[in-house]
Amino acid sequence: MQKWFSKVVFVVSISALSIVSCTKKENATSGSPGAQSGGAQPSTEVVKLGHFASLTGGVAAFGTSTRKGVDLALEEFNKAGGWNGKPVELVTYDTQSKAEEAAAAVTKMITQDMVHGLIGEVASSLSIVAADKAMQFKTPMLSPSSTNPSVTKKGEYIFRICFIDPFQGEVMAKFAKEQLKGKTAAVIRDVAQDYSIGLADAFVKSFTGLGGKIVLDTSYQSKDTDFRAQLTDIKGKKPDVIFLPGYYNEVALIVRQARQMGVKQPILGGDGWESEDLVKVAGKEPLENTYFSNHYAPDTKEGAAVGFIERYKARYNGELPSAMAALGFDAFNVMMDAIKRAGKLDREAIKIALASTKDFQGVTGKITINEERNAVKSAVVLKFKDGKPSYHATVNP
Ligand code: PHE
Repeated sequence: MQKWFSKVVFVVSISALSIVSCTKKENATSGSPGAQSGGAQPSTEVVKLGHFASLTGGVAAFGTSTRKGVDLALEEFNKAGGWNGKPVELVTYDTQSKAEEAAAAVTKMITQDMVHGLIGEVASSLSIVAADKAMQFKTPMLSPSSTNPSVTKKGEYIFRICFIDPFQGEVMAKFAKEQLKGKTAAVIRDVAQDYSIGLADAFVKSFTGLGGKIVLDTSYQSKDTDFRAQLTDIKGKKPDVIFLPGYYNEVALIVRQARQMGVKQPILGGDGWESEDLVKVAGKEPLENTYFSNHYAPDTKEGAAVGFIERYKARYNGELPSAMAALGFDAFNVMMDAIKRAGKLDREAIKIALASTKDFQGVTGKITINEERNAVKSAVVLKFKDGKPSYHATVNP
């Protein structure tokens, strides 16, 4: 089967301060992955990074949003002089929201583009398969926003700059129990996504640990569109709260159908809710009385985020950066910070430097990579008001 990737190379020339971008169609799966053994080596002069993201397909909002953050970081870094006076090069591959495409893209970036490090993915299921390839070819991979614990458990080359789902699940369980005074909960999980399964499990564990009761644990699969059977079951159980740890497409339909069926309870979710498409599809009204945890609040007035938000808005026609964009921005800068500390363009040295990232001041907070190669960071709880997610609370680890 032929699989085509859109490969985009962005090179910012410091002298001209202009962006040269070229788009090439490349076949990611038919190329020989033996380039490394064939003598090609990563450059020792110019940094080359690979970004893989869902720019099309089911969760296209994840990749397009992250990419804007990564590209802004790249442009700023190169304007400031680049690495050793040379602009950093970035190749971006579209994973089309598919696991096999993510694996193929990563293999190609490592063995043919000869990148020094990888940035990606957003969706945990895609990061998990990509991580196997990064491990196989001993190349550092930094996920901006995959929260499933299995991602970094793949091994010593795999890092992330965000919190993990056991924490995110606990945040929402505590919120349900303590803030919303919920004694019973129903859970509806997407069994096609490692993210959703892991986050649902984490919520169930924490909620029951706090003395709450799960009255129903039901499921669906990505791309389903009719959730009335599950919602009928939920309605019958009369839970105090509903936990829905899915991605925005299905979440939007579930929330809309739930309200149409007269399900009025608070509906809670995690970072996978984040996308403007959620509001477009669900509608403002159904989203009242819903909350989700996230990595950062776009209406924050704090710290390093403020300047970033201004520059991002200026760069992208007034658009507010999503958490994914902010994490993409931070991921690029954390990678470059590690490369600077490594002092040489060597994958092994970069891996070691990434592992010792400490107190890096990002726009999503301070980033320290722990022993498990995860970042320990606080979460925010956002509440929908008039169709806009707005800051509600911060929860520290
Ligand atoms: N945390 C989600 C996952 O691991 C991805 C995600 C991150 C989605 C941030 C939206 C915002 O699958």
